[in-house]
Amino acid sequence: MFLALDGVGDLQAQVLRALKQGIQDGRLAVGSRLPSTRELAARLGVSRNTVIAAYESLCAEQFAVAKSGSGTRVSASPPRQTAALPALPVEAQSRYAGRVRALPPIMLEKREEGLRWNLQYGEPMVDVALFTIWRRALIHAAQRTGAHGAPAQGLLELRAQIADHLGKYRGIRCTAADVVVVNGTQQAISLAARILVDEGEQVVLEEPHYQLATQAFTAHGAVVRHVPVDDDGIVVDALPTEAVKLAYVTPSHQFPSGRVMSLERRVAMLERAAAQGFWILEDDYDGEFKFDGRPPPALHSLDRHGRVLYIGTFTKTLLPSIRLGYMIAPEPVRRDLVRAKMLADMRCSAVEQAAVARLISSGAYVRHLKRATLELKKRRRALLAGLQAHCADWVQIDDSGGGMHLICWLPQLSEAQLAMLIELATARGLGLHEVVHHYTSKPRHPGLLMGFAALSVPQINAATAMLGECLADVVGGGAPKRQQA
Ligand SMILES: Cc1ncc(COP(=O)(O)O)c(C=O)c1O
Repeated sequence: MFLALDGVGDLQAQVLRALKQGIQDGRLAVGSRLPSTRELAARLGVSRNTVIAAYESLCAEQFAVAKSGSGTRVSASPPRQTAALPALPVEAQSRYAGRVRALPPIMLEKREEGLRWNLQYGEPMVDVALFTIWRRALIHAAQRTGAHGAPAQGLLELRAQIADHLGKYRGIRCTAADVVVVNGTQQAISLAARILVDEGEQVVLEEPHYQLATQAFTAHGAVVRHVPVDDDGIVVDALPTEAVKLAYVTPSHQFPSGRVMSLERRVAMLERAAAQGFWILEDDYDGEFKFDGRPPPALHSLDRHGRVLYIGTFTKTLLPSIRLGYMIAPEPVRRDLVRAKMLADMRCSAVEQAAVARLISSGAYVRHLKRATLELKKRRRALLAGLQAHCADWVQIDDSGGGMHLICWLPQLSEAQLAMLIELATARGLGLHEVVHHYTSKPRHPGLLMGFAALSVPQINAATAMLGECLADVVGGGAPKRQQA
């Protein structure tokens, strides 16, 4: 028997491929005994462990069977080789697929493994008390929820609780009938695009922007226009004067700059929407986490023309694993949203909806929000203090009074140095993330988007000390230590 390795990939995979090929083309006959692992290892010039691991995979994939005492044999009916399918012509797919294919990578999806401290925006705060009450609420809901699913619009008891909560805490007057329960903000954006925007129509987003919103509208086929944000939020005077179909904004806590839209701008934005006849999609993703005083009321609460569709999400206020959010939309848009939701995925999980409804009605939700706000405030303070103590010579902070992230600018660094900094920090166990992915063109300085929700205060202290060391190595001392070695 002659087996040759193809030199592609690791040795174990090469040995496995060679064995499978031998079985499929009949050189290794059905039922025949494979050489001993020692013999094959010597013949191929690889370690015995490599061959043992390849044999194990061969058995797991049912190409061979191992019997103690009689070695490993080719199985009686090894899986047949499937003929390679001809490559599909790209034109066979939709225009939507073409647009999706052309999108840049989604940065929030990038997860680094094995880091000691990851300043990743979007990582949740792990609150032990929340897990305990969530587990109880889920068990209770699972016992009470029958076999039937919730209506497409959402479980009535959850919609009623959401309406009540929004009235008390976000200044939004609505009833259960106005609420549509969705699988998080991303589904809300996608449904709004389907119901309100046609291909080729113009959609306004903020600059800097939430990358996943830009991508959802781009994939939908909208012509996306980014309008700058200043200290008061989106610059309303810079909006296009014609043919805007929808504007997506984050007024409570602009993502990622952290700016809060001023009252003047809110009024101007609403007037502009009414005059030009466009929709406003308000993403209130972390508006409940405000550190100094009460969160500003939602833009929706000021809307007198029925132009604002409001989105809230439990993925930020509770846990990212709870994929539930909600929309408040005027009739008849709401009816169409519900139909579109039904066509997309029928409904959200009834058990999870019942559990969240219970959390809100029992008061546990608001207690959690208060606890989480206090803890986030401590973590943000630790991050600011740590940056001040260890990195003050290099950083400029774009702070904001709420949420789970801030931007840390590094005006003295070149782009190449920022890349070196991120690489060096990663090698030392610290995850850093560039903010540039949320800009259409490069910002004035290199910068980092720092999420602080997932790290405890001591971890943040250690992370900022490490950042200071890395900065000193990259900027202060020239080349990183690792490269000097
Ligand atoms: C601006 C913005 N909106 C919404 C969300 C939450 O989206 P979802 O509810 O789909 O998890 C995020 C989370 O990263 C965000 O940054």
